[in-house]
Amino acid sequence: MSEQANNTATGTYTLGADIGESVLVSRHLNVCYRDRTKIFGQKSTMKQVLHDVSFEIGQGEIMGLCGESGCGKTTLSKAICGIIRDFSGELLLRYDRPQMVFQDPFSSLNPSKTIGWLLEEPLRVDAQRTWSSDERKARIAEVIEQVEISQQLLERYPHELSGGQRQRVSIAAALMRHPRFLIADEPVSALDVTIQKQVLELLDSLHKNLGLSILFISHDLRVVYQICDRVMIMKQGRIVEQGDVQSVYRDPQHDYTRTLLTAAGL
Ligand SMILES: Nc1ncnc2c1ncn2[C@@H]1O[C@H](COP(=O)(O)OP(=O)(O)OP(=O)(O)O)[C@@H](O)[C@H]1O
Ligand SMILES: [Mg+2]
Repeated sequence: MSEQANNTATGTYTLGADIGESVLVSRHLNVCYRDRTKIFGQKSTMKQVLHDVSFEIGQGEIMGLCGESGCGKTTLSKAICGIIRDFSGELLLRYDRPQMVFQDPFSSLNPSKTIGWLLEEPLRVDAQRTWSSDERKARIAEVIEQVEISQQLLERYPHELSGGQRQRVSIAAALMRHPRFLIADEPVSALDVTIQKQVLELLDSLHKNLGLSILFISHDLRVVYQICDRVMIMKQGRIVEQGDVQSVYRDPQHDYTRTLLTAAGL
């Protein structure tokens, strides 16, 4: 199928797709937003944000997505989560919708609830199965050990935690229901370098120990290098290059990739 800009939802979104060893296949994905800057009396126009985006993420793989602000990274993650319905192309997911980890845990953690309550919530609302109170407690104990946060933090509120601890809590919340695919959208951008390193090590160990597949979004090529197996470089809604991290960084094929690498001092 060729690239097309349209305003009708002609795309297919499939959960439980038979896609072999991949957790996600995106084929010729196009996403448009309605342009709200229209002048009275004129027909509203559509602005195409993603153009013909095709890629796969394998089981247990960490795929990096890199590109400058506004290029469409978050739009792609929303499409993959099924939040954007107006798209063309195909999105095939082997399991359920992925869990999300965001840049700013403040915006995703309800400030009026304790950490314990917040971690229990995904299990209380689990449509797949019912968790007894004891099962919920046991699962929380398991997950906080995986993300290395202490039991004492469960009584606290989000504002009573450090940035690094908050990010660990949001990772814990994402893990509660045993997801196999996680999208981390700039998960360490708001953290200082030492804490960044710890959170990256945590994601890496979760990926290794749980076999998690991760789409790791970052504008920082250095961070991507530390953690990803493969990387996609996005420019103005198009994937201009994708491949193995080592080969893309050593031998970039696209001018834009070279510009980004130079800008990052790599
Ligand atoms: N709901 C929306 N309606 C209209 N335009 C939108 C909407 N959301 C995003 N956009 C536009 O789509 C483009 C891509 O935005 P997106 O948030 O996907 O970029 P991004 O790569 O995640 O940027 P950043 O690195 O700053 O997070 C931008 O031009 C943005 O202004
Ligand atoms: Mg974004």
